[in-house]
Amino acid sequence: MQIVILQDSAAVAEYGANLFIQQLQKKPASVLGLATGSTPVSLYQRLIAANRSGEVSFKQVTSFNLDEYLGLDGSHKQSYRYFMNSQLFDAIDIDKANTHVPPGDADDPIEACDRYEQQIVKAGGIDIQLLGIGRNGHIGFNEPSSGLMSRTRVKTLTKATIEDNARFFSSDEYQPHLSITMGIGTILDAKKVVLLATGENKADAIKASVEGALSAACPASALQLHRNVILVLDEAAASKLSDIEFYKHIELENQKLMQRLGKA
Ligand code: PGA
Repeated sequence: MQIVILQDSAAVAEYGANLFIQQLQKKPASVLGLATGSTPVSLYQRLIAANRSGEVSFKQVTSFNLDEYLGLDGSHKQSYRYFMNSQLFDAIDIDKANTHVPPGDADDPIEACDRYEQQIVKAGGIDIQLLGIGRNGHIGFNEPSSGLMSRTRVKTLTKATIEDNARFFSSDEYQPHLSITMGIGTILDAKKVVLLATGENKADAIKASVEGALSAACPASALQLHRNVILVLDEAAASKLSDIEFYKHIELENQKLMQRLGKA
């Protein structure tokens, strides 16, 4: 796992955005795996700015989001389709027909999950997958106890996740308890994975993911199996790692090596 520890959330967003910008410059027809939540918002703002300045184009991009609430259609303000449209897609030159969010309003959600998997394969697989992490170590809506090789499926949300997300729903509004989410196996199939975490409330989940055992108890620990994963953390999210100085030292050595090879 490549672990990059930066001073604050702004630096994390900047670093994460640059990884996506580099990917798009290298391969304009990239397949992007995207995420919702508070963490990616500043990264998306940087991508919007890069699109406006002409640094990158999304015209040839295909995207797949990690998850969606089951029972909400895309016009619902708390749906992840609505979030993606308003936070990113409406502001960039992407063809919305090439953006995919699991259909929360599917008549047959089980069949819709299989179709989502097929669409990812048909697009050529995900080149770069963005992830946040839940306080309980979830990635997408893969809650603790999720199978480490799971595929896109219907998942029941934990009480902790429902409580964490309650802030987005008004008290008289229906808050779904079910979701459709890419599986952990689906995420591990992405060619590159970028996980962003900021704030002290993510420190335990980050410690369990990086230094804990590979375990369904912490779904993000499955990333230990991935060959090309980068965790971009602020100091607070990294604060419970056992040897922060060692991780920073590794990253410096990586950078030196890349510079020497002309790949920085
Ligand atoms: P957050 O959510 O970015 O809003 O903290 C992350 C997640 O639950 O995956």
